[in-house]
Amino acid sequence: MKATLVTLLGLPAALRSVLARGIISDEAVVIFDIQRRHYQESTFGNLSNRKRSSTLLSDLDLNDKWIFSGGYFLDIEVGTPPQQLQVLLDTGSSDLFIPSAEAARCLNHNCPGGRFLKNDSSTLRNPNQRAAFHTAYLDGSTANGTYVQDTVRLGSTTLHDHIFAVADELEVSPGFEGGPGPQYGIMGLSFRGQEASICASGPRSCKVNYTTPTVLDSLYEAGYIKSRSYSLHLHDVASQSGTILFGGLDLTKFSGELVTLSIQKDLNPTSWTYGRYAGQDLILTSVSSTVNGTITELSPRGFASTATLDSGASALSLPPSVYDQIIDTLPLVLKHRYTSAVLCRDADLDAYLTLDLTGTKGFETAHIQIPYSNLVVHVYEGVSDSSKPYLHNGQELCVFALAKGTATANVLGDPFLRSAYTVFSLDEKTISLAQASYGNRVSNIRAIGQGLMSGNIRR
Ligand SMILES: *[C@@H]1O[C@H](CO)[C@@H](O)[C@H](O)[C@H]1NC(C)=O
Ligand SMILES: *[C@@H]1O[C@H](CO)[C@@H](O)[C@H](O)[C@H]1NC(C)=O
Ligand SMILES: *[C@@H]1O[C@H](CO)[C@@H](O)[C@H](O)[C@H]1NC(C)=O
Ligand SMILES: *[C@@H]1O[C@H](CO)[C@@H](O)[C@H](O)[C@H]1NC(C)=O
Ligand SMILES: *[C@@H]1O[C@H](CO)[C@@H](O)[C@H](O)[C@H]1NC(C)=O
Repeated sequence: MKATLVTLLGLPAALRSVLARGIISDEAVVIFDIQRRHYQESTFGNLSNRKRSSTLLSDLDLNDKWIFSGGYFLDIEVGTPPQQLQVLLDTGSSDLFIPSAEAARCLNHNCPGGRFLKNDSSTLRNPNQRAAFHTAYLDGSTANGTYVQDTVRLGSTTLHDHIFAVADELEVSPGFEGGPGPQYGIMGLSFRGQEASICASGPRSCKVNYTTPTVLDSLYEAGYIKSRSYSLHLHDVASQSGTILFGGLDLTKFSGELVTLSIQKDLNPTSWTYGRYAGQDLILTSVSSTVNGTITELSPRGFASTATLDSGASALSLPPSVYDQIIDTLPLVLKHRYTSAVLCRDADLDAYLTLDLTGTKGFETAHIQIPYSNLVVHVYEGVSDSSKPYLHNGQELCVFALAKGTATANVLGDPFLRSAYTVFSLDEKTISLAQASYGNRVSNIRAIGQGLMSGNIRR
């Protein structure tokens, strides 16, 4: 469920208007115009992919230049001969779609992650004439197109005849200020049966029920991995890359025990996925903050909220009462209903949040610390110096990637996923969590066979 919580739309009105006008303002904040954005095809790094036995390792790319509309991207190759594309990794949805070369939105270089020319692929087939692709995400993004069947490669791993969608119409992150922002495809890695094309009693209208294997299903069915599982290591906020391991986990990338929690089914009776495994949902039972060694409990006793682990979301959302308490203690430069800005140097704050999470079965609790530094996001990198927003004394402004959620449903986006090492097992219906360790260059990768993620893992 891609959800871009940190969007320009969500920036404080004051900041938004100065961005638009390109001048100064609020509290001697000197901000220059960033309307002239430089989204170029070359802004992506060239990522390497390697294959290990039973485990696929791909590097992910955090592109700060896309922070308003983006997140962690994965390199794929599609068709024959291969066409290169970069797609947003989304733990919260289940479809793979890529922009069509013919999409109007991709004109004027507005699809920096690549666009797919169907006519150029000799292996492309049409799997189902009747099914049409329509999808909509939490942040208002939509895409419409057709299903095709073609070769999809992740590094040296080849999926023949994988079914995915090619979007002729797409509007990713519609909240992007100043017209359509960069458009790109999305790779959903959530449960099968949650795809856009399922006709349920939901808001979607469609003619046929059409469920297709996700990339994870296809990797499993092709025998590349031993279970439908993957682990994510996104590094800290300063890093421009992370790692996803399909079908494996790396014992050197976390500290303590990897605590395994059972995923919560959709409990919302009005939802079209009610009663089924819909997303990567756990239960958030406590939030506390630790500042200079002093712990403050921020959530009330007996608190419980659905918490969706969502790599498609660039912010962490917490319940309104918790959000307000955190925001009130921060040296914020600008506050707003949706998000706030801090001085980038405040990333050094000696403070962290501790989130307690449980699953639906058992009594295990995972405790994950989120350093405030993982919430302080540089958003203006890649913008020429003269158009960077500064404070009057030359200090750069950063977005504080914390958003206001609701009392009962919250999204644990990239700041959470940078802090935790996460293993998603779609076969066991579990998510395993431990504190991420950074800076360990050696690896100790273990394949995830059936049954492994039904319990905790010690290093
Ligand atoms: C990426 O790396 C490959 C192999 O090193 C090279 O052939 C290709 O041109 C590079 N692509 C870009 C966009 O730099
Ligand atoms: C692709 O091929 C079809 C059928 O030959 C043609 O109608 C269409 O114009 C082609 N599209 C492009 C972008 O070349
Ligand atoms: C996709 O189709 C839906 C339903 O017809 C429409 O509301 C939406 O605007 C379309 N999206 C785009 C990007 O054109
Ligand atoms: C699609 O499947 C859902 C759930 O099984 C069912 O309720 C619905 O009637 C089906 N719709 C069509 C058009 O087959
Ligand atoms: C934390 O400690 C530092 C250094 O002792 C001090 O400057 C700062 O004001 C303290 N912060 C809070 C929130 O108490």
